[in-house]
Amino acid sequence: MIKIFNNSSELTVAFCDELLNLCNMKQNIFISLSGGDTPKMILKSLAEDYKNKIDWKKCNFFWGDERCVPLDDKQSNYGMTKDLLLNHIDIPQENIHRIKGEQEPEQEAARYSRELLNFVPLKNNLPNFDLMILGIGEDGHTASIFPDQMQLLHSEKICEVTLKPDTNQKRISLTGKVINNADRIIFLAVGDRKSKIIKAILEGDTKSKTKYPAANIHPVSGSLYFYIDKAAAKYLTKSKIIL
Ligand code: 6PG
Repeated sequence: MIKIFNNSSELTVAFCDELLNLCNMKQNIFISLSGGDTPKMILKSLAEDYKNKIDWKKCNFFWGDERCVPLDDKQSNYGMTKDLLLNHIDIPQENIHRIKGEQEPEQEAARYSRELLNFVPLKNNLPNFDLMILGIGEDGHTASIFPDQMQLLHSEKICEVTLKPDTNQKRISLTGKVINNADRIIFLAVGDRKSKIIKAILEGDTKSKTKYPAANIHPVSGSLYFYIDKAAAKYLTKSKIIL
């Protein structure tokens, strides 16, 4: 389902309300968070406007990917989430399951895989997230599955070490099978710079699946949502759209 919002503020409210609804429906909710800039507006709103609306003890936070950088590096997805949200809400420390970007990548990918198998309920013998939040790069990557690493979409592993192509930065990412095993996947994309890739993924031809990892995200039994603003949706013509 594609939801188009007038602006990022309206998208933020809709997303936060959706999370609130999910938390009201379940005693325990397992969420995989995204990195990058797009989620920042949501994290800030959750900390400011939903701080006392959501029972954070129900939330179990994990990450879809992490940069292999020290904890205090400004590129750390966990560090960003901690600064914008975790430091401001009443959430038990044991509910926060970060990828330790400062550790040796291969060892950490194996450790995090074990942590996911130990703490996240399983479906199809894979971690089954209630909510998987994803961003989309202009090159069509999602999590840290980049176009030159499409094999990670079908990896038998839970997590893999990847390289961001333009910087060779090491990253740890969930693999496609775990991502697609979620009950609800929400892509977030705002701004003009995402309009071409949104068009390619939502209305592209069959080549899109061979070029863009994000075009291969289809929950095996869950639901898929795109939360985008009008700027990111400006080239869409055919998609069934909910404003
Ligand atoms: C990361 C993310 C990555 C991100 C996209 C979009 O660690 O960077 O997991 O997949 O979601 O690159 O990033 P922006 O939101 O900054 O455009």
